[in-house]
Amino acid sequence: MVVYTKSMGLFGMNTFEVDVETDIAGGMAVFDIVGLPDASVKESRDRVRSAIRNSGFSFPLKKITVNLAPANVKKAGSVYDLPILVSILLSAGEINADLSDSAFIGELSLSGEVRAVNGVLPMTIQAMEKGFKRFFVPAENAAEGAVIKGIDIIPVSDIKTLAAQLNGKLPIIPAKADSIGRKPCVFDVDFSDVKGQYEAKRALEIAAGGGHNILLIGSPGSGKSMLAKRLPSILPDMTFEEMIETTKIHSIAGLLAPGSPVISHRPFRFPHHTVSAAGLAGGGSIPRPGEISLAHNGVLFLDELAEFKKNTLEILRQPLEDGKVTISRVNANLTYPCSVMLITAMNPCPCGYYGHPSRECTCSKKAISQYLSRVSGPLLDRIDIHIEVPPVEFNHLSSSENTETSKEIKKRVDRVRQIQNHRFRKTSISCNAKITPALLQKMCPMDDKAKNVIGNAFDKLGLSARAYDKVLKIARTIADFDESEIIGSQHILEAVQYRSLDRKYWR
Ligand SMILES: Nc1ncnc2c1ncn2[C@@H]1O[C@H](COP(=O)(O)OP(=O)(O)OP(=O)(O)O)[C@@H](O)[C@H]1O
Ligand SMILES: [Mg+2]
Repeated sequence: MVVYTKSMGLFGMNTFEVDVETDIAGGMAVFDIVGLPDASVKESRDRVRSAIRNSGFSFPLKKITVNLAPANVKKAGSVYDLPILVSILLSAGEINADLSDSAFIGELSLSGEVRAVNGVLPMTIQAMEKGFKRFFVPAENAAEGAVIKGIDIIPVSDIKTLAAQLNGKLPIIPAKADSIGRKPCVFDVDFSDVKGQYEAKRALEIAAGGGHNILLIGSPGSGKSMLAKRLPSILPDMTFEEMIETTKIHSIAGLLAPGSPVISHRPFRFPHHTVSAAGLAGGGSIPRPGEISLAHNGVLFLDELAEFKKNTLEILRQPLEDGKVTISRVNANLTYPCSVMLITAMNPCPCGYYGHPSRECTCSKKAISQYLSRVSGPLLDRIDIHIEVPPVEFNHLSSSENTETSKEIKKRVDRVRQIQNHRFRKTSISCNAKITPALLQKMCPMDDKAKNVIGNAFDKLGLSARAYDKVLKIARTIADFDESEIIGSQHILEAVQYRSLDRKYWR
């Protein structure tokens, strides 16, 4: 007799329904799994067999064939352990239940406990959309799935209990949905810790306001890393959709901490400069999202930018532009979203003091240009705002004056985000930095003086077409801080300043 149970599969960000068909027939005792399983799925056989025996059931000594349909999609991972086991117990008569409205995922231990798996959130969304009423998931993952309304998430801790529940001997209690209320985020760092550095703070505020990428360049100890690490404290709150999108990626990567099933604050990822290309952009033998995708809807901070391997950085060019990264596999391509704000920091030369007002740089011209050339022109072009962080002046450092707190800055950032939400309400654009070329002129109206100024700057500074677009978008954000719909010449002038460092250092 053929018995069916339902499960969910995951490939990249794509989820799909899986039918687990089990046939137990007379004949030699064999246990086969077919339907394009990879090695990890084939290992299910041993786990399922041991789990059944060690939970007090007898394992049918017959010819067992399990087919995972659709057979043309590769199945990977250990999530099918549980549905395979349930279908065998159904077929063997150990479980008597109507499971047509239920789906199962979970990895088994040899003793019959159910272990956590990755990707429960996206699979729950798929199960809900497919009309399932109940989704049986490992108990550890239940809170993650319970975030989604419209489907009961049933936590499973071991198969003995599960069998008793399905046979009506124990009650089936769905996990309680955690309210996705935003827990107030407490940062242990604050912009008020940073003395002076008003220009750099202004630039970071503009970057946060419009979602612009930013490069901080300056000598050692000038406070670049310190400034960058305070960026999350002024970023706007996440929307519900953004939370779910970002949580999906962390769920797939298995990075959700127990007790916090939802990422409710913009991620801030700062990979070390020794990170591999696959670590940064995603990939690996078992493909997983890279740092740029884990930072989706948040910030990717690359400190010591020039120390990263050049080819690792170059991989970021396309994803930064497109907001998604595609990983090629032999039989399919995987795509992960990566809409991030990039913040980068670096010294201007190997010794760090090139351009320093009082200390002499000991590097040769060649060494300086070699150092700077590790950051390529095209990558630099994708960073909207370039800002020099000079050494902090002693009178600022020793002053006891109160500096502005992150909370005060965030208020202004929130206000300009409100303006943008209104501006982009009929589009899919999230912030000024993401304005599409087709909408640029419409969204960035300038007065005549501003048009003159940007025309002159374009001719004199030899801006690339991309740099021109970036100047306009930064000016858009600066004008939003002034609550001015029309971009004026003062907004363009400030925006052009943020594009002038590449000429000082890179030419
Ligand atoms: N403006 C400032 N106000 C208060 N403290 C500061 C300031 N700038 C630097 N500092 C102090 O100096 C330390 C070093 O700063 P930080 O690590 O940010 O420098 P950096 O520019 O990243 O240097 P490097 O180029 O070596 O990475 C900080 O931890 C902080 O204690
Ligand atoms: Mg630093």
